[in-house]
Amino acid sequence: YVIGIDLGTSAVKSVLVDREGRVTGEHSESYPLMRPKPGYSEQNPEDWVKGTLVSLNRLVEKTGVRPAEIDGISFSGQMHGLVLVDAEGKPLRPAILWNDTRTTAQCRRIESTLGAKLIDIARNKALEGFTLPKLLWVQENEPELLDQAKLFLLPKDYVRYRLTGEYGAEYSDAAGTLLLDAASKSWSAEIAEAFNLPLSLCPPLTESFGQTGGLLPEIAEAAGLEPGTKVFAGGADNACGALGAGILGEGKTMCSIGTSGVVLSYESDKTLNLGGRAHFFNHAEKDGYYIMGVTLAAGYSLTWFKETFAAEMGFDELLAGIDRIPAGSGGLLFTPYIVGERTPHADSDIRGSFLGMDSGHTLKHFARSVLEGITFSLRESVDIVRSSGKAVTEIVSIGGGAKNADWLQMQADIFNATIIRLESEQGPALGAAMLAAYGAGWFDSLGDCAAAFIRTAGRYEPNPEQAERYEKIYALYREVYGQTQELN
Ligand code: XUL
Repeated sequence: YVIGIDLGTSAVKSVLVDREGRVTGEHSESYPLMRPKPGYSEQNPEDWVKGTLVSLNRLVEKTGVRPAEIDGISFSGQMHGLVLVDAEGKPLRPAILWNDTRTTAQCRRIESTLGAKLIDIARNKALEGFTLPKLLWVQENEPELLDQAKLFLLPKDYVRYRLTGEYGAEYSDAAGTLLLDAASKSWSAEIAEAFNLPLSLCPPLTESFGQTGGLLPEIAEAAGLEPGTKVFAGGADNACGALGAGILGEGKTMCSIGTSGVVLSYESDKTLNLGGRAHFFNHAEKDGYYIMGVTLAAGYSLTWFKETFAAEMGFDELLAGIDRIPAGSGGLLFTPYIVGERTPHADSDIRGSFLGMDSGHTLKHFARSVLEGITFSLRESVDIVRSSGKAVTEIVSIGGGAKNADWLQMQADIFNATIIRLESEQGPALGAAMLAAYGAGWFDSLGDCAAAFIRTAGRYEPNPEQAERYEKIYALYREVYGQTQELN
């Protein structure tokens, strides 16, 4: 067996996976998120460690697995979060998370200091969520803490340090810091120096599947595992989600709809420069990359709509019968910018809209138009992938968006691509387990591991008539952003 640990924002989930890729047990432990001021989002790294140990312990207890049967453990982690540790490895302050937005001024400072170099080296725009703006915020607001800091760690790498005693980072998570030279896979001295940050703040880099020590004796005891159990570095949650959906190799693309929505496509060309229109990150596979676009309120738009206008209904009830509403929702058009938008606009001030309301529209028209608006937003990310020269003909759909057959068909029609549904979805935790399985030598490549672990359950082909109709509405959808920018 191997164990995958998914260190999320609300909980940590551990899964036990056998040699066929079957998840034979899992356990989640949640922890609090602190919002001490508007826009702030912090967690206590100690809560992650405690949660991880409890989740491992309960997993072992529930499944009755013998500790000697565990060949390896690896991680998937929430990206971008800043953990600053002192010379003793103690966190100097709570972790500042990916969804903390206090750093707008620092993002502007990064852009004006580095100009085009930022995209050339780090391949991403400066966004509030990323790690470098957080480091600069500490430099400006809590300089004494930065003076005491030995180095910074990303969330899962802090937990890994506590489990093994080894400091480190791996490329897929390092790619989300704005401090990594994505193509040369090394920390960028140029970027660090531009902000007077010593390069020694950056932890040593390794591959995601590289072994990074073993479980410390006291940790093994608390987790119910054997001391020395091999620990592999792990990956960013998006990279691990991609592994778990088999996104390994050119032409592989996925659409993941959770609270936010992600379109992610494999990329082998390390020189690809999208000018920051979408994220460009190192993958968890050696020398692989991926392009990623994010719709901030994907599932969240639907949840908001249901809670606000149909709170008494379940999602199934709300969406039942939307297949009888024609494509285009009878002229109703929704833009899902209810908390701002990331790709392609990177605009935290824009807000959403319903356009074209008719007195004949029913709740079902609105429900369908919400799904269409979310999917149009994701189509903008698909277009960015296509603009890089890729023919996106097949997309693996996972998450909440893959649970409804009408929505899957809508994705096929709006993306104009075949949509593939998987037999069982374990998300980033499975990707983490795959890194342990490959690291432990079960397979010759991550691709072989994906072939053994991931099974397809269904295909949805685009309907040419619907696709043509959506193409016209999508052109109108794209106009709405510019026309509503001044509304707020
Ligand atoms: C990616 C991002 C989120 C976090 C969530 O850029 O900010 O997907 O990784 O954990």
